Amino acid sequence: PEVEKVNTNIVTLTRFLTEEQTKHKEATGDFTLLCHALQFSFKSIAYYIRRSTLVNLTGLAGSANVTGDEQKKLDVISNDLFIEAMRSSGRCAMLVSEEEEHIIFFRGSKGARYAIACDPIDGSSNLDAGVSVGTIFAIHKLPEGASATKEDILKPGTELVAAGFTMYGASAQLVITMKGSTVNGFTLDNGVGEFILTHPDMKIPRARTIYSVNEGNSLYWEDKTKNYFNSLKEAQPDGKPYSARYIGSMVSDAYRTLLYGGIFAYPADKKSPKGKLRILYECAPMAMVFENAGGQAVDSNMKRMLEVVPEHIHDRSGIFMGSYDEVEKVKTFYK
Ligand code: AHG
Ligand code: MN
Ligand code: MN
Ligand code: MN
Repeated sequence: PEVEKVNTNIVTLTRFLTEEQTKHKEATGDFTLLCHALQFSFKSIAYYIRRSTLVNLTGLAGSANVTGDEQKKLDVISNDLFIEAMRSSGRCAMLVSEEEEHIIFFRGSKGARYAIACDPIDGSSNLDAGVSVGTIFAIHKLPEGASATKEDILKPGTELVAAGFTMYGASAQLVITMKGSTVNGFTLDNGVGEFILTHPDMKIPRARTIYSVNEGNSLYWEDKTKNYFNSLKEAQPDGKPYSARYIGSMVSDAYRTLLYGGIFAYPADKKSPKGKLRILYECAPMAMVFENAGGQAVDSNMKRMLEVVPEHIHDRSGIFMGSYDEVEKVKTFYK
């Protein structure tokens, strides 16, 4: 009988990072170690999400975070897992998290050169329904000799050295990109406990007639936002209107948009004049992924998202991101 052909040349995230590291002469291996700690937190969070209905981890924690969201039990646990992973890596000097009012400084990590912003669980309102959620991360590097202050993280996305997210869906998908580089996607193989490179050099389709927005907010939208989304419901050159897809987890809506193309938006509106999504750990890292995949991301003033500088760590912004041509179309309505 014929023996099944098994691929034995597998690129794990660890192998991928090691190979990337050898391309940079000045690399110390610190970034690779930091990414090991990141992967561990993603695997742990994935594990608790999968088991949540079995071990009483559904529902609310009974507290709210500083941006006004009610915290789910899993928001709190995932935040703690993430913090401990970063602390124990010894490579993280400071951390901003959606679930923490203040910056956490790991003063015990001597010589740590990285500053991280994270959304431990994005889309947590979807958790108890078993809908895909994710973790978003953004990585800054401190200047040589810097002693980690607030200013080291209140930076535009153009300064990020790496960013990405993990989506906990039918499988866990990790998407990561580094400065001036490509976007690569990995799938968690639960059997071997490794993220395996399954989506090398991801490129977002140039255009696609899919839009993703919480249309329930249209009552609060400005006219230009209404006009833009209304235009998508008219016949396009192929005679058909756009399709609507909205999960309500930015990570999942973004992942689909990355693969299929189209536009994802959470515009600023009369109810939320500064938008809803937060710059450091939602908008900027996603914008880096989209740009490096050949797409675009802009705020509600059509300014490049990666150039937006937050004043405070939890500052918000409106956002439009997606296929290159779809974002160009948005700009024509906002001129
Ligand atoms: P989080 O769960 O991290 O607080 O983020 C919620 C965000 C984001 O995931 C999603 O795109 C958006 O909120 C959904 O908001 P609406 O429910 O207002 O549509
Ligand atoms: Mn929240
Ligand atoms: Mn979020
Ligand atoms: Mn969150």
